[in-house]
Amino acid sequence: MNPVLEIKDLCVDFYSRGNVSPAVRGVSFDLKKGEILAVVGESGSGKSVTSQALTGLLPGEPTCRVRGSVKLDGREILGLPERELRKIRGREIAYIFQDPLSSLNPVYTVGWQIEEALRFHVPALKTAPARRERVREVLFAVGVNPDLADSFPHQFSGGMQQRVMIAMALACEPKILVADEPTTALDVTIQKQIMDLLLSLRERFGMSVLLITHNFGIVAQTADRAVVLFRGEKVEEGRAADVISFPQHEYTRALLACVPRLKFA
Ligand SMILES: Nc1ncnc2c1ncn2[C@@H]1O[C@H](COP(=O)(O)OP(=O)(O)OP(=O)(O)O)[C@@H](O)[C@H]1O
Ligand SMILES: [Mg+2]
Repeated sequence: MNPVLEIKDLCVDFYSRGNVSPAVRGVSFDLKKGEILAVVGESGSGKSVTSQALTGLLPGEPTCRVRGSVKLDGREILGLPERELRKIRGREIAYIFQDPLSSLNPVYTVGWQIEEALRFHVPALKTAPARRERVREVLFAVGVNPDLADSFPHQFSGGMQQRVMIAMALACEPKILVADEPTTALDVTIQKQIMDLLLSLRERFGMSVLLITHNFGIVAQTADRAVVLFRGEKVEEGRAADVISFPQHEYTRALLACVPRLKFA
């Protein structure tokens, strides 16, 4: 099957006061349709920078330089003008960021914020009632009572805010969902619910998910394949179960050794 996303030789350099610091060094991988691909690595390994480079979310030159190739359905999107990238962001590649409160606007209701994305990206939903109906549908799909559409973000718990973020990302039915540590701020039972939710939505909408995490438990439960980054380079790639059971690279073995295991005597 053709990949929906093909990343080839992606390099990201940051420049400051004449110094260059490479954050991503020649990373290549594909994401297939309907696949959940985990991007794993320690803090600072380049996971977020890689995902943000895809749709031009990083600061531009002279602070930051991105090279390589990113193809979405065979079309090169790296270096497209901002006007074109804005159409891709949200509509084709949607993001869920780690901290929902920094991505939700406190002064608008959650329903209004989801509708705003629909107004921009889904012109087929012409009327306000049609958009309201879609808002109710996506809130329901992520397990939030649709009657809460008129509530403000601060009226939701952390887990519910994360669900609202997912609803917002899903509203426009993107081809690809980039979930950057979507559950780090949540306790483990809510983490499990959110990951189960992602799995069920993948089934329902057939979307592909780039799941960024440093949690191998989440990789084992959720991902089909995994890519391991280390200091900006890809050091390992394979089926998630194989990467976890038979890690090839010393660094992956070290990462796995840090995962706590429960032992009952
Ligand atoms: N705007 C920026 N300016 C300069 N350097 C940056 C910038 N953003 C990221 N970096 C650097 O790029 C490298 C990769 O950062 P990145 O945020 O991708 O790490 P990460 O793997 O997502 O880590 P974490 O697990 O902590 O989120 C780091 O060394 C970071 O300091
Ligand atoms: Mg990060």
